[in-house]
Amino acid sequence: MLEKIQETAAFLKGKMQTTPETAIILGTGLGSLVHEITEKYEIPYKEIPNFPVSTVEGHSGKLIFGKLGNKDIMAMQGRFHYYEGYSMKEVTFPVRVMRELGIKTLFVSNAAGGTNPDFEIGDLMVIEDHINFFPDNPLRGRNIEYGPRFPDMSEAYSNELIRKAFEIADEKGIRLQKGVYIGTQGPTFETPAEYKMFRVMGADAVGMSTVPEVIVANHCGIKVFGVSVITDLGVEGKIVEVSHEEVQKAADEAQPRMTCIMREMINRV
Ligand code: HPA
Repeated sequence: MLEKIQETAAFLKGKMQTTPETAIILGTGLGSLVHEITEKYEIPYKEIPNFPVSTVEGHSGKLIFGKLGNKDIMAMQGRFHYYEGYSMKEVTFPVRVMRELGIKTLFVSNAAGGTNPDFEIGDLMVIEDHINFFPDNPLRGRNIEYGPRFPDMSEAYSNELIRKAFEIADEKGIRLQKGVYIGTQGPTFETPAEYKMFRVMGADAVGMSTVPEVIVANHCGIKVFGVSVITDLGVEGKIVEVSHEEVQKAADEAQPRMTCIMREMINRV
């Protein structure tokens, strides 16, 4: 495993013209941030040794290097989801490679169903904590010495970055929610009973990604900041049929706000 990570990192280092300390996983709602990256150079996943290849519609897979504002960054366009059939180790492989490349801070976005009754469709929720409801943990198995066998998760999402996000939202007049994200394997959306269960468990939003990558980032000592776009509501009385298209539509509408928060965050870290 470690050998593969190092092989991939060595390959990328051979291609890299910059040494970014900031990485972004361009999840749902953040796709257009790509257009703001300058001095861009791209490496398709299929050319990267040991990299999984993404399969979901609308997630073309490549690593993008360049500048966002005056910051050197590395971005993943297309992520790997557990529901696609990848193992937790495959889903999180790129984050371990990031660690080898010297990444210190990771920015992630995703789409999620809101279980908090105060939320509205289109809201942005800063992730303040998560619940791992996947049937596995990416750190299961022999420990890679990036971090301890039993990693601390008391601040999985950087409090300092969360504070900064609210300052920016205030400045820009963007409504920002904060809450707990529960990560499930999908690919089914939730039944009304499941949404209710997740609410009772302490979740404000539910989605099918992010948690594996954040666990590994924490193990590697990479700081994390994450935002969910609330694309539908799993709130009693407000539950309607959900489709991937509606999720995309709500995410597209929220995209300018999401992009603004992330751009400012990245420039200020
Ligand atoms: N549930 C799980 N994942 C999601 C949802 C949801 O309601 N909306 C967007 N991604």
